[in-house]
Amino acid sequence: MSHPRDHLVCWLRDAHAMERQSEQMLRAQATRLERDPKLAGALGEHLEQTLAQRELLEECLRRLDAEPSALKDAAGRLDAGAQSLATLAVADEPVKAAIACLAFEQMEVATYTVLFAAAHQAGDIQCQRMFDRLLHEEQAMADWLRGSLPGLVQAYLARDAAADRGVTAQSMAPGAAQPPRRPADSSTPPPDGERPRPHG
Ligand SMILES: [Fe+2]
Repeated sequence: MSHPRDHLVCWLRDAHAMERQSEQMLRAQATRLERDPKLAGALGEHLEQTLAQRELLEECLRRLDAEPSALKDAAGRLDAGAQSLATLAVADEPVKAAIACLAFEQMEVATYTVLFAAAHQAGDIQCQRMFDRLLHEEQAMADWLRGSLPGLVQAYLARDAAADRGVTAQSMAPGAAQPPRRPADSSTPPPDGERPRPHG
């Protein structure tokens, strides 16, 4: 593989697998983030953009008499599955999802920067223009995600504090079940479930 065009095809296939992975990851995150409709909506919109990006990559591969790599696409889907499991059912899922998506967008920015340079070396102006467009779309998404992080953290911490206050208020309500009391002089150690928890 010595011609810049061959490398361009190879990296295009990598990018295609990456966008397949992105599709799966975005679809999973967007459907699970019902607590954060703004983030879910942005991820849903980026999913639409990602589908269009994949089609552009396929068009570019066809123009170069090549096609996507089934093996690389399958590996990308596996990675996406593992990524989705990593953030599944955790209380701070919106924060974790935004971190994962931002990291992925940064990888996409790097990939299209490489493809832009490779297309330039191969003298493929049409591909170069397309990669420039995709690069700007990924950069815009990365910027949006980075900007949304402080608000997501604030919203999560506020929800968490409210949940804590709710638990405390419930336990202090009249008629709320109280923990069983032991005689003060009892020498028998309490069962595990009744052990006082250390403070701090
Ligand atoms: Fe993206």
